[in-house]
Amino acid sequence: MSEETLYIQHFHAGAASLAYYQEKMQGYQAFPKAFAMGQAKVIDEVKVSALRGRGGAGFPTGMKWGFIPQASPKPKVLVCNADESEPGTFKDRELLRYTPHLLIEGMLIGAYAIGARSCYIYVRGEYVAEARILEQALKEAYAAGLLGEKVCGLDFACDITVHRGAGAYICGEETALLNSLEGKRGEPRVKPPFPAQSGAFGCPTIVNNVETLTAVPFIISRGGAWFASLGRIEKSGGTRLISVSGDVKKPGVIEIHAGSMTIRQIIFDACGGILGDRPLKAVIPGGSSAPVLTADEIDVIYDIEPLAKIGTMMGSAALIVVSDAHCMVKLIARITKFYAHESCGQCTPCREGCRWMEDVLERIEHGHGRVQDLGLLTDIADQIQGKTLCALGDAAAGPVMSFVKKFRADFEAHIRGGKCPNAS
Ligand SMILES: Cc1cc2nc3c(=O)[nH]c(=O)nc-3n(C[C@H](O)[C@H](O)[C@H](O)COP(=O)(O)O)c2cc1C
Ligand code: SF4
Repeated sequence: MSEETLYIQHFHAGAASLAYYQEKMQGYQAFPKAFAMGQAKVIDEVKVSALRGRGGAGFPTGMKWGFIPQASPKPKVLVCNADESEPGTFKDRELLRYTPHLLIEGMLIGAYAIGARSCYIYVRGEYVAEARILEQALKEAYAAGLLGEKVCGLDFACDITVHRGAGAYICGEETALLNSLEGKRGEPRVKPPFPAQSGAFGCPTIVNNVETLTAVPFIISRGGAWFASLGRIEKSGGTRLISVSGDVKKPGVIEIHAGSMTIRQIIFDACGGILGDRPLKAVIPGGSSAPVLTADEIDVIYDIEPLAKIGTMMGSAALIVVSDAHCMVKLIARITKFYAHESCGQCTPCREGCRWMEDVLERIEHGHGRVQDLGLLTDIADQIQGKTLCALGDAAAGPVMSFVKKFRADFEAHIRGGKCPNAS
């Protein structure tokens, strides 16, 4: 894109070193500035920036930091969610791989703002190389006095520990992540209490996504108002990294000013259009948990509120593009299989409902479906939605409902014909 970008120009070999971060990105200059500002002013600046969580829910970061009970005698904890488990999402991987020091400095500032000494980075188990890069960056930072007892020679102590997950989707949910971090079974906790009151090891805790934390040094160096002005839409500041995958000519991570492009512009202008110039069939706009859009619905601004208004979500900003080469029934059957497999099993609607939807979708896909199965699918999804402990239930139910509603003819053709109409 032609406008100013924060990240994308640094996504190349050699950018992960401390030397690069200090020489090319004014690295570790924002933390001393934040320290001089004082905790409350740092939180205010992040509020002004209109930075919203990049992990999925889009919660305002400054407000979240403000929930930490500063008067609590317990130690405060900052956790970076680097689980990146939502299918279709791979933007945090680029940040971990190429800009680990930006994350470390963002965590330092966040830790200072909430009064935490102990910080953790919970890294997706499959990100083996990225965990190594992070460990190397932490080693460099400790050796240079940027972490440990006196950060940058100032009266502030901070430690960051990398904790590797074991490959469970549910451990991206913040309370399951905290259980896993504590060595327990990775399943979501009942809320309240929310992590800001009682999180890691029972201490007040903030969990933030990788991209969220990497925005913080920019906010402190150049000001919250400047960051907010990068957004082209009310309430969303900064730029957004978007993982684009599927049937596009140029898949990958792109960076846009928040709210500056429609889905159509992202697909056809930024990503070169549809593979093989085939017709577009559908778009999943926010990772596989987001309700699907048809090809007629892509003239929508790609940001949180505009997508919510048309019944879907931006989620983790992962845009999955589907051409007419694919079977929609097979696609939703595969997505549902994933959620059924990843359900932690604590709540009956999610545990039983996901597996049941998987069974029904598989029989339709393989030509053994019945006309009444479409109503059954909607009923099961309705029994899951809004009735579970964590959002995985909604993540499984919402897509099923939207696929059946928007691509009903495809399901009916499978049921009537006894097979996929596109199968040879
Ligand atoms: C099932 C499930 C999976 C999630 N996976 C991730 C993930 O992989 N990475 C992430 O940052 N947030 C994930 N989240 C959101 C986190 O619970 C949490 O809201 C987020 O880490 C907060 O950070 P943020 O405010 O910076 O967005 C997930 C949520 C749910 C319900
Ligand atoms: S909704 Fe599913 S994944 Fe979430 S707590 Fe309940 S059973 Fe576990």
